[in-house]
Amino acid sequence: MHLNDGRPAGFFLTLEGPEGSGKSTQARRLATRLADFGLRSTVTREPGGTALGEEVRKILLHAPELQPVPAADALLFNAARAQLAAEVIEPALARGEVVICDRFADSTLAYQGYGAGRSIESLRSIASFAVGDLRPDLTVLIDLPVEDGLRRKVDDGEITRFESHADVDFHRRVRAGFLELAAAEPDRFVVVDGSQQLERIEAEIIAAILNRLPGMVRVPAGTTSGSAEVSVPSESEPKPESLRMKG
Ligand code: TYD
Repeated sequence: MHLNDGRPAGFFLTLEGPEGSGKSTQARRLATRLADFGLRSTVTREPGGTALGEEVRKILLHAPELQPVPAADALLFNAARAQLAAEVIEPALARGEVVICDRFADSTLAYQGYGAGRSIESLRSIASFAVGDLRPDLTVLIDLPVEDGLRRKVDDGEITRFESHADVDFHRRVRAGFLELAAAEPDRFVVVDGSQQLERIEAEIIAAILNRLPGMVRVPAGTTSGSAEVSVPSESEPKPESLRMKG
């Protein structure tokens, strides 16, 4: 991510995955863990994250009687996305923060594209109209078998139109779509096994983030709760100008 004048800005992380993959829990935990590394973050979600977006969220997720067709879904998700990008994501990146976004444009490709059969190419154009060239620096796909995720959602409570009105085959297509997107962009995506323990998933995400941040040194496994290799800010190295430090 770069500012208009070419200076590097913050770091844009998106969390993606099928239903019940635990993204929201991870987003909250990550903010706390990043603060331990001296990194300031903004946590947000789609659809939502702005006053307009939260209104659109109610229409999209909790008003099945409106019967939006997949094309209307795609446009509404992108309307909320445009607002979120302009109001929250871009300003936070410009302040040098890590932005943690619970779902972003890949969800539209997976759900309205692979799941509901709309053209991937058209969906990419709509997203590009909505957010221009804003792209995640890193997308973590928390992958999970469809049945396991849907079971978790039923246990958890908030059942949306996409869970109650779509069949298991729809969610299988969504999951396969996410995996296809990840395979097509291996530099941007990291796929994490969502059936692992929370702490292990968190360690893998932190490692993926820190390995991509500039001005960090790599340290061996065993310094965090997971065994993945992670990086921590070096005392001797200058901290990255692009990332605002806490305190
Ligand atoms: P939410 O309760 O936030 O679910 P989750 O915790 O799984 O993220 O509901 C978001 C729902 O909206 C989820 O079923 C995925 C769907 N969705 C789309 O269909 N297209 C999109 O572009 C986005 C962002 C979400």
